[in-house]
Order: sequence, then structure tokens, then C-alpha cells
Amino acid sequence: MERVRINVNEIDHEVEVEPWMTLNFVLREKLALTGTKKGCDTGGCGACTVLLDGRAVYSCMTYAMKAEGRRVTTIEGLTGDGNLDRIQTAYAEHYALQCGYCTPGFIMSTKALFDANPDPLEEEIKEALVGNLCRCTGYAKILEATLSMKQKRKGRT
Ligand code: FES
Ligand code: FES
Repeated sequence: MERVRINVNEIDHEVEVEPWMTLNFVLREKLALTGTKKGCDTGGCGACTVLLDGRAVYSCMTYAMKAEGRRVTTIEGLTGDGNLDRIQTAYAEHYALQCGYCTPGFIMSTKALFDANPDPLEEEIKEALVGNLCRCTGYAKILEATLSMKQKRKGRT
């Protein structure tokens, strides 16, 4: 067991971890941040996506020890003021979810994309979301929601 310091959603945590523990395990089981989902647990579905120093990663494929001294953002970190953020709002407005299990992962991948590139092309959006699977929506609504953010931004500028 080793003590690691991880900043999650702007809060510093010290947690005891075993070498086998993934970031997904620590977030869900030790920090009770269950918004980050566990799907396949083998790097194939993207349900577990979080941001590590701003980059989208599969938390099921990231050892917790790798997050030592680093900044993690989970879906809970998007609603600090109690309101939905603009990605969550776009998903809700465009009915871009059904069971919702994949949604936190999609939203975190979308956030990584828009943080790095506020005006992505449709192809760039598709590429950024290619590692996230959805069994319900058929993807069209998810793409529509994501494109709407781009259009809204254009409308304001
Ligand atoms: S749970 Fe991590 S990729 Fe599926
Ligand atoms: S909404 Fe059900 S898996 Fe995506």
C-alpha cells in the first residue's frame, strides 16, 4: 500500500493505493465519485473516461499511482455550481442519451476536445469521440448535441 496525492475536481486527496488499483477503482470505490462509470474495464468502451491533466484517458486503463501529483477531472467536476455545464445542457436539449451509462464518458471526451479546440470540424468531433461506445442512441443525437455547441459559440462571436 502506498499513499498518493491526487487532485480531483480541484480538491486534493491523499489515498492509499495498491499497485493494481486503477484510477477508475480509486475514483469510484475510495472517493465515491461514481459518476465515472465502469463498463468493459478493458479499454474498449470509453464509459470510464476522465481528464488527466486535461487529456481524456480511460480511467480503467490508468493505474492510480500514475495520477500521483496530477489533476483529474471527472463528470462531477463539471457541476461545481450546481448547474449543468454547457456540454451537459447540449446533451439534454438534444436528447443525446437514453440509458445514460455511456454519457459521462462522452461528455468528458467532448470537454477535452472543446478545451483544446473550441471550434472543431465535424470530422474532428467524430475522431475525438471514436473511443466512446453507445449501445442506445445510434450516435446521431450525440453528434447533433456536440455540433450545437459549436454553432452556439459561432452565434455568440
Ligand atoms: S470501462 Fe474503461 S474503456 Fe470500458
Ligand atoms: S445512452 Fe445507453 S449506452 Fe449510451
